[in-house]
Amino acid sequence: MGLFSALLVGLCALGARADILSGMPDAAPPGYEEWMSPLVLPAKTVTGDGPWASAVARARQFVANLTLEEKVNLTTGAGTDNRCVGNTGSIPRLNFTSFCLEDSPLGVRFTDFASAFPAGINVAMTWDKQMMYDRGYAMGQEHYGKGVNMALGPMTNMGRVQAGGRNWEGFGGDPYLSGWATYQTVSGMQAAGVIATVKHYIGNEQEHYRGGGGAYQVYSSNIDDRTMHEIYAWPFAEAVRAGVGSVMCSYNKINQTQACQNSKTLNGILKEELDFQGFIMSDWTAIIDGPDSVLAGTDMNMPGFMAYGQPEEHDPATAMYGYWGYNLIQMVYNGTVPESRVDDMATRIMAAYYKMGQDKNYPAVNFDQTTEDTYVNGVLVNEHVNVMGTHGQTIREIGAASTIVLKNTGVLPIDVTKYKHYGIFGSDAGPNPDGPNGCSDRGCDQGTLAMGWGSGSANFPYLIDPLAAITSFVYSKEPDTVLEGILNDYNYAAINQVASQADICLVFANADSGEGYITVDNNAGDRNNLTLWHGGEAIVNASTAYCNNTIVVLHTSGAVTLEEWVDNENVTAVLYSALPGQESGNSLVDVLFGAVTPSGKLPYTIAKQRSDYPADVVYTSDQTTPQITYEEALKIDYRWFDSLGIEPRYPFGFGLSYTTFEYSELSIWEVGLYDQYPYSNASSLVAPGGPTDLFYTAFGVSFHVTNTGSRDGAEVSQLYLGFPESAGEPPKVLRGFEKTFIKSQNTATVVLGLLKHDISIWDVISQSWVVPSGTFTVMIGSSSRDIRLNGTFVV
Ligand SMILES: *[C@@H]1O[C@H](CO)[C@@H](O)[C@H](O)[C@H]1NC(C)=O
Ligand SMILES: *[C@@H]1O[C@H](CO)[C@@H](O)[C@H](O)[C@H]1NC(C)=O
Ligand SMILES: *[C@@H]1O[C@H](CO)[C@@H](O)[C@H](O)[C@H]1NC(C)=O
Ligand SMILES: *[C@@H]1O[C@H](CO)[C@@H](O)[C@H](O)[C@H]1NC(C)=O
Ligand SMILES: *[C@@H]1O[C@H](CO)[C@@H](O)[C@H](O)[C@H]1NC(C)=O
Ligand SMILES: *[C@@H]1O[C@H](CO)[C@@H](O)[C@H](O)[C@H]1NC(C)=O
Ligand SMILES: *[C@@H]1O[C@H](CO)[C@@H](O)[C@H](O)[C@H]1NC(C)=O
Ligand SMILES: *[C@@H]1O[C@H](CO)[C@@H](O)[C@H](O)[C@H]1NC(C)=O
Ligand SMILES: *[C@@H]1O[C@H](CO)[C@@H](O)[C@H](O)[C@H]1NC(C)=O
Ligand SMILES: *[C@@H]1O[C@H](CO)[C@@H](O)[C@H](O)[C@H]1NC(C)=O
Ligand SMILES: *[C@@H]1O[C@H](CO)[C@@H](O)[C@H](O)[C@H]1NC(C)=O
Repeated sequence: MGLFSALLVGLCALGARADILSGMPDAAPPGYEEWMSPLVLPAKTVTGDGPWASAVARARQFVANLTLEEKVNLTTGAGTDNRCVGNTGSIPRLNFTSFCLEDSPLGVRFTDFASAFPAGINVAMTWDKQMMYDRGYAMGQEHYGKGVNMALGPMTNMGRVQAGGRNWEGFGGDPYLSGWATYQTVSGMQAAGVIATVKHYIGNEQEHYRGGGGAYQVYSSNIDDRTMHEIYAWPFAEAVRAGVGSVMCSYNKINQTQACQNSKTLNGILKEELDFQGFIMSDWTAIIDGPDSVLAGTDMNMPGFMAYGQPEEHDPATAMYGYWGYNLIQMVYNGTVPESRVDDMATRIMAAYYKMGQDKNYPAVNFDQTTEDTYVNGVLVNEHVNVMGTHGQTIREIGAASTIVLKNTGVLPIDVTKYKHYGIFGSDAGPNPDGPNGCSDRGCDQGTLAMGWGSGSANFPYLIDPLAAITSFVYSKEPDTVLEGILNDYNYAAINQVASQADICLVFANADSGEGYITVDNNAGDRNNLTLWHGGEAIVNASTAYCNNTIVVLHTSGAVTLEEWVDNENVTAVLYSALPGQESGNSLVDVLFGAVTPSGKLPYTIAKQRSDYPADVVYTSDQTTPQITYEEALKIDYRWFDSLGIEPRYPFGFGLSYTTFEYSELSIWEVGLYDQYPYSNASSLVAPGGPTDLFYTAFGVSFHVTNTGSRDGAEVSQLYLGFPESAGEPPKVLRGFEKTFIKSQNTATVVLGLLKHDISIWDVISQSWVVPSGTFTVMIGSSSRDIRLNGTFVV
C-alpha cells in the first residue's frame, strides 16, 4: 500500500477529511524513498494502566466538567512573556491557574537562589545509580520550591556525533547507560512532586538544521526500525517505565515527517507500544501544522504561538491563536478533530498533575523568568525563594565522583607536603571576568567551564573555580608554598617562565558547545572541531617544555582528541572533569589531593582521531530537508570501534583509580521467570514501558571484586553481553553495571540481573522483542576493553 493510500485509509478510519494532509509528510528526495514514516491512527486513548489508574480516573472526572474552550486551554501555551518559559491557559471559572513549565535539565533556569547542578553527562560519568536519583530528586525539589509544575528535563538524546552541541545535557553514547540515568533522574525528580519532561523525542542528535522557530531547512533523521528501538527509543522507554509525566517531541523530522506530527513515533511507538500514560508536549514552536500534530498524538502545544519573531510572540492574548488554541476549537467544529481527542489530550495532562500530587497545596510560581527585578509595575514577581538546601554538598560529591582520571604516572593523588611551587595555567582555571553568569544562557567561553550554553543552562548561585579551590586547599595545608596562576591563555613566555621554576604544573583547558540559537566563537551550537579551545594544546606544550610534572585538567562538553600531547612524558596525569556545576573547583580538589578515590568512567569513546567515529555532524546541505541517515545503525560509539577493530585512545567505560581491583568467581544462573512468561502473551500484559514480561529477570550474574590496593575506593563493574552470532548484534553491548564501594583488601559480591529486555533484540517482522536462541557470552570488565571474566549461557 502506497503512503498516499495508507494516509487515506488512516484518515477515513477516523472519519476525518483527506484535505488535512497539508503538513504531512515531505516527499523523500531521490534515493531516500524508503525513509518515509507510516501513518498510525487514531491516537491511542489513555487507559490508566498500572500505577496510573487513580490519576487517570481523577483526570477523567475533572475533564468531564470542562467546556471545550477550557479543555483547549489546558493544551495550548499562552506565550513566553509570562513568568515561566511555558505557560498553559488557565480555567478562571474553577480558579485553576495555568501550569508553569520551566527549563532545564540541570537546574531551574532564569532565576536566583537555585543550584547549578553538574550536567547530565557528569552524572552518567559517575555510573552511580543512587547519585543519578539523588541529583534528580534535588533538582525536583528546586523546581517544586519555585512553583514549577513541569520541569523540562531530563534530555536523553544519544551522543551519536561527538561534536553534537547538546550532548552534555544527556547521558552519553550507550542506550543502556542512558536508560538508567534517565530512569533514575525521572524517578528522583517526580518523587519531589514535579512532572519530568523527557526530551527531545526523537532523533535530535545535532544542532545544525534542527528546525524550530520557522526554520527553512529542517533535517530528517532516517532511523531504521531496529535501531530506533534498540538505541534511540530505549532511554525514552525507560523514562516511560519510570512513570514520566511528559515527553517532549523534537524540532527535527524523522523519515521526512516533523517529530511533533509523526504518528508512527508518537501514536505508534510511544502511546501504543510503550503504553505511555502521560502527555506529549511540543518543543518550542516545533509544531508547524494544527490538525496533523493533534491527530499524530501531540497533546500540548508550546509555547502557543506559531513562530518566533511574529507579532503574537509578545502578545499573550493572541499567542493562543497559533496552530492550536482558537484553531483547535475550529478543528473540532469543522470535523477535523473529534472532541474525544481533545478530551484525551486534557485527560493525559491532568493525569500527570494528579499522579504527581500537584492538587495538594502545590507552591505558586514565585519567580519571573523575564526579569531579575523584584517588582514590575509595583507587582511582586520575584520573591527570591532560596531552594538550594544542602544541594551544594550533593553537587560537590557528584562532581568528584564524575571526575575521570585518564592518565596517571604516579603523581596522583598529589602529596601536598611534597611540592613547593605550583604553576597553574589557562583561563579555564579561573573565574569569568564578567561574572559566573556574565553571558546570557552561558553563551560564551570565559573562565572555567562548568556548564554548556543554551536552554539547558541555569544561573550559577556561585562558581568555585579551580585556582581558588586549589589555592585555598594548598595554603590550608602548606603555607610555605609558592602558587602562581596565569590565566592569560596566550602569554606563553610567562607560562614558560613559571613552568621552569615550578615542581608541579596544572594546565586547564576546555571545549564548549550548546544550543544552536547562540553561536560562540563561530560554533553554531555544535562544535566545529574536537580540539581544545583558546589554544589549549599550545598551553600544554608551553608547560611541558619546561615542567616535567604537568597535570592536564579538561572541562569539555564532549570528547576531544588528545593525541598531540597525551603521550608526552612530561604529562604526568590527565583528569577529565566535563561540566561539574557550581562546586567545580572543590570537586576537583577532592580528587587531586586524594580525599576521594576517583571512580568516574567514560560514557563515550575518546578516539585517536575524529574520523574514527562512526558518524559526524552534517554542517552544510543544499537540500530543503537535509537527510541524516543513521547508517552506522546499531554500531554507535564503542560498538563501532569493536566491530571495525579500531583502537581508541581511551575506550568506553574507562577510568583509572588510586587503588586496584581484581575480579573472580563469575557465576551465571537462569532465574526461570523467562519460561513463565512466554513472549506471545506479551501484548496482554502491557504496562508503561512496554510488555511487562520484558522486565522480569531472565538470568542472574554474580562475581567478586576485591580491592587489592591500599586505598578504599569504588569500582564500576560492567557487564557486556555478546549475543549469538545469528542475532546480528555488535560484538558486545552494555547490559549491566554497578558501582561498589570497597574498602582496601576487602571483597564485595556484585549481583546483576539480566532482564528479558536485556537479552532481546527488536524483531522488525513480528514487531516485538524476541530472545534469539544460541550461546550468549557474559563479559565482566572494568571498561569495555578491559574484560576480566567471561562466561556463557545458552537460550
Ligand atoms: C523509517 O524508515 C525505515 C526504513 O524504511 C523504517 O525501518 C522505520 O521504521 C521508519 N521509522 C519511522 C519512525 O517512520
Ligand atoms: C463537576 O461539576 C459538578 C457541578 O458543578 C460538581 O458537583 C463536581 O464536584 C465537579 N466535579 C469535579 C471532579 O470537579
Ligand atoms: C484560557 O486561558 C486564558 C489565559 O490564562 C484566560 O485568560 C482565559 O480566560 C481562559 N479561557 C477560558 C475559557 O477559561
Ligand atoms: C482562588 O485561588 C487563590 C489562590 O490559590 C485563592 O487565594 C482564592 O481564595 C481562590 N478563590 C476561590 C474563589 O476559590
Ligand atoms: C478546520 O479548522 C482548522 C483550524 O482552523 C483548519 O486548519 C482546517 O483547515 C479546517 N479544515 C476544514 C476542512 O475546514
Ligand atoms: C577549534 O575550535 C575552537 C573554538 O572555536 C578554536 O579555538 C580552535 O582554534 C579550533 N581548532 C582548530 C584546530 O581549528
Ligand atoms: C604541541 O607539541 C606537539 C609535539 O611536539 C606538536 O606536535 C604540536 O603541534 C604542538 N601543538 C601546538 C599547538 O603547539
Ligand atoms: C620535559 O621537561 C624537561 C624539563 O624538566 C625538559 O627538559 C624536556 O625537554 C621536556 N620534555 C618534553 C618531551 O617536553
Ligand atoms: C622532574 O625533574 C626533576 C629534576 O630533574 C626530577 O627530580 C624529578 O624526579 C622529575 N619529575 C618527574 C615526574 O619526572
Ligand atoms: C497466554 O494467552 C492465552 C490466550 O489469552 C491464554 O490461554 C494462556 O493461558 C496464556 N498463557 C500464559 C502463560 O499466561
Ligand atoms: C574474555 O573474552 C574476551 C573477548 O573474547 C577476550 O578479549 C578476553 O581476553 C577474555 N578474558 C578472559 C579473562 O578470559
